[in-house]
Amino acid sequence: MSTALLSALDQPLLRRADLGGLSLPNRVVLAPMTRARAANAALVPTELHAAYYGQRAGAGLIITEGTWVSEQAIGFVNVPGIYSEEQLLAWRRVTDLVHALGGRIVLQLWHTGAASHPDHHGGALPAGPSAINPRVRTFTPGGFRETVTPRAMTRADIVATVADFRAAAEHAHRAGFDGVEVGALGSSLIAQFLNPRINERSDEYGIDRTGRRRLLLEIIDAVAEPWGGQRVGVRLSPYWTEGDYFTAAEAVLADYDEHVSALGDHPVAYLHLRGRDVAMPDDAPDLDAIARYRRQFDGPLIANNGFDQATGNAIIEAGVADAVSYARHFVANPDLVTRFALGRELTVGDPDTYYGGGVGGYVDYPMGAWEDAAR
Ligand SMILES: Cc1cc2nc3c(=O)[nH]c(=O)nc-3n(C[C@H](O)[C@H](O)[C@H](O)COP(=O)(O)O)c2cc1C
Repeated sequence: MSTALLSALDQPLLRRADLGGLSLPNRVVLAPMTRARAANAALVPTELHAAYYGQRAGAGLIITEGTWVSEQAIGFVNVPGIYSEEQLLAWRRVTDLVHALGGRIVLQLWHTGAASHPDHHGGALPAGPSAINPRVRTFTPGGFRETVTPRAMTRADIVATVADFRAAAEHAHRAGFDGVEVGALGSSLIAQFLNPRINERSDEYGIDRTGRRRLLLEIIDAVAEPWGGQRVGVRLSPYWTEGDYFTAAEAVLADYDEHVSALGDHPVAYLHLRGRDVAMPDDAPDLDAIARYRRQFDGPLIANNGFDQATGNAIIEAGVADAVSYARHFVANPDLVTRFALGRELTVGDPDTYYGGGVGGYVDYPMGAWEDAAR
């Protein structure tokens, strides 16, 4: 074996890792990505989904696209669900294939709450923590639309939503997933509850930080049940910047210090943290931004946003993260782990095919050949 290859194998991204009961052969994680390929009325994943995830089975861990926990959760076109038996059975084909290819796969649970649109709900208003328009955009069958003022969720709505998450996790368990990830990223329902500018509730799901994170913690506990209290990851994005109400102001970051620290009392297998956006595409990610939350959480941490091979290795070597998730690089390089191991060039993806169409830009990116690498 050449010296170059031996040193490539020595890179931190290729070390084994244990993420709260999930045993990973490497630390290169497929980040969750909505690809809008479930273009069917029942919102079931298709053969194409199996091919897409199967091609990426070399990842230390696959985190699926955000997946609807209920019909009320819907806020984007052609995204699959996990609330029906038909969806469960279709996901089983995906997990079976990934497992046959030696991979591990967890399902990201998604609920858009107020970041939806009446067009997704037969004209009915979406519901959120308070009757406040989150002022973000949502992708409807008619294209991108501005959100509207939602209905404030009642206590009964909240109880039903937690139950929907629990049922979705039970379905994921039966569908053969290795775990679930609670999607609290961006402007999703859980992020709306965490946000004091949108959550003006005066009951125990609002008022202060403890109240605002109650929904998140109740959902974590509920979805952990089918997994015996293990295998539940949580995705947070303190630095999320969107519209008028989602900003990475210091007050927001301080809220998240406390929210992250509270995760320690709950069955959380890993924290999946989306770091600060980079100013320019080639800028290195801000490791201090991730390190801030590393200090608040004792469990495993997956870092994300703008990493490449060098910065991925660096953040693990520095002890700031245990693993790194890649989204855009993994779209265009299904064999990303092999490419890192062999020091190969990466293909650049086409953003125009991220959300549309079928095969194109989804399952037709080339897998690298050894001959090229040996040159
Ligand atoms: C096409 C696309 C779809 C995405 N969908 C999701 C999603 O469903 N859930 C989620 O948590 N993040 C989603 N993200 C965010 C990514 O997981 C990730 O945070 C972001 O792309 C930055 O990582 P990267 O620099 O490795 O691309 C999406 C990103 C892209 C590009």
